Amino acid sequence: MLLFYIYIFIQLYLQEINSSGTDFDYKDTCKWAKEFPMCGEKFQSPINIKIPNLESLGELPPLKWNGYENAPTTMTLVNSGHSITLTGQWDDNNIPYITDGPLTDAYIFEQLHFHWGPNDSVGSEHKMNGNSFPLEMHMVHFKKEYETFSNAVKYSDGLTVVGLFFDISPMGSEALTAILGGVSAVSSSKDPFELDPFELSSFNVAIAAVQFATYAGSLTTPPCSQSVIWILPINTLNVSSKQMKKFRNIELNHGDTHNYRPTQPLNGRSIHIFTQWSKLYMCDVYRSTTET
Ligand SMILES: *[C@@H]1O[C@H](CO)[C@@H](O)[C@H](O)[C@H]1NC(C)=O
Ligand SMILES: *[C@@H]1O[C@H](CO)[C@@H](O)[C@H](O)[C@H]1NC(C)=O
Ligand SMILES: [Zn+2]
Repeated sequence: MLLFYIYIFIQLYLQEINSSGTDFDYKDTCKWAKEFPMCGEKFQSPINIKIPNLESLGELPPLKWNGYENAPTTMTLVNSGHSITLTGQWDDNNIPYITDGPLTDAYIFEQLHFHWGPNDSVGSEHKMNGNSFPLEMHMVHFKKEYETFSNAVKYSDGLTVVGLFFDISPMGSEALTAILGGVSAVSSSKDPFELDPFELSSFNVAIAAVQFATYAGSLTTPPCSQSVIWILPINTLNVSSKQMKKFRNIELNHGDTHNYRPTQPLNGRSIHIFTQWSKLYMCDVYRSTTET
């Protein structure tokens, strides 16, 4: 129990550093670069993924999801003022991590958070063939070799973010229900809320990621560090209209009604499309043949 309070204290302390060091809003995201110079660099995120303009490059081993079926011992939800962020505490050998696919090392789960907008035609940060989705979830991982998130963010291969798109379906998502059960407690409060722990595999990430786009980019919030290998599953997950309403009730800083950054220029970067057939484990990699 004492450990839990120390943990909450550290979380609050980190939040304090974050909120004093990185104050920004979504009214004019072009202004970010004045205060955070990396936001004006060349290889920024999000981007528009153009599916038809891709070319095969060869084969890759399939992406592996390790420990996603392990429930954490505690799970905490916090309103950062820019999103709601979910963190967990796992016993040392149980922490979820991803390997293989386009990755050269293990990437350990750090936190997940969401991006949304005022109506269903906007919300996601990345676009697919010019289309937005109402919700995008970011599962942030750091490279094991770099030991911590704050150290990893200094390296170009320091982070992997899995960005999952949600589309409207009456079914909704059970995993989102588990999170949104605690959302009223954080909608207008910065106090952390302890959720009943559940395993991250309940998001069906492995199913969604049978085909995904991958490219090198940045954090989509200041300081916009260019340290992210993006993994964007092509298949969408479900969110109900009722669940979207709960996201839109969350009070963001500066009265923001959305928390997505507009898409950024590709500037010569390749986008690889990676397909993983569940039984055969054959993987094609494609490269974008056109510039946007
Ligand atoms: C949705 O919100 C966006 C951004 O505020 C706005 O431009 C658009 O007109 C809205 N669309 C609908 C259908 O209300
Ligand atoms: C989303 O909902 C549809 C029914 O509307 C269902 O067929 C599909 O399997 C669901 N997808 C996921 C990933 O749960
Ligand atoms: Zn994000």
